[in-house]
Amino acid sequence: MSENDCPKTNPAHVAIIMDGNGRWAQKRGRPRLYGHHAGARRVREIVEACPDLGVKYLTIFAFSTENWKRTQAEVSGLMALFRRYITREARALIDNGIRVRFIGDRIRLDETLVRLMDELELLTADNDAVHLTVALNYGGRDEVARATKRLAREVAAGKIDPETVDAETLARFLDTYVLPDPDLVIRTSGEARISNFLLWQSAYSEYEFIDTLWPDFTAAEFSRVVGSYARRDRRFGAVPG
Ligand code: FPP
Repeated sequence: MSENDCPKTNPAHVAIIMDGNGRWAQKRGRPRLYGHHAGARRVREIVEACPDLGVKYLTIFAFSTENWKRTQAEVSGLMALFRRYITREARALIDNGIRVRFIGDRIRLDETLVRLMDELELLTADNDAVHLTVALNYGGRDEVARATKRLAREVAAGKIDPETVDAETLARFLDTYVLPDPDLVIRTSGEARISNFLLWQSAYSEYEFIDTLWPDFTAAEFSRVVGSYARRDRRFGAVPG
């Protein structure tokens, strides 16, 4: 690997699959929701570490389109946790210059939660220190399907010539249209899968699968993982330089 192949800088956009809350709780003989609450407390520490690491965009996977298959008690507990998290963290997020966005399909989320999400997006719309994107009822395939539906409507309405449609056109209809693609995707808890997260956007992302369970993931470990990215060789399909 030559010097020129290294990104050298830290990743501008890090995406995280926060996995392992359930096992963390189980190891302590506690219910799964106890692990989710511990996981939620970690989020602030990781967000706050971003500016010093040069991470401008942080995207976290909070609830997937597949997570509805969990027990009703866990799903409603998670939804209550999201409502409470937004209510409690709003002040700190606003004051710390965090711009919050939500991606995913809001259609299945309860009205109160959607209202809180809309409000937080609005209240933080002028912030620019860190762009925090929370994926809630998000699935990569679902996102591409929804984007395709919107694009098809524009074609049907005669606003887009189908012959001009390319990857760039479709990307404009994705939930993430204002965000750069992630440079680095981290998954905690030792599982090496991407679980339908940012499928389109992570085409050239680097991946780090680490064993730590999400509630144990500290800012120090985040910093180490982000630092190791700078030593990687990213070529975007090109030959080594
Ligand atoms: C995966 O652990 C985690 C989730 C499905 C939920 C992620 C949610 C949080 C970290 C809580 C808060 C987030 C915000 C933005 C407030 P798992 O339950 O799949 O763990 P397991 O694989 O050990 O069972």
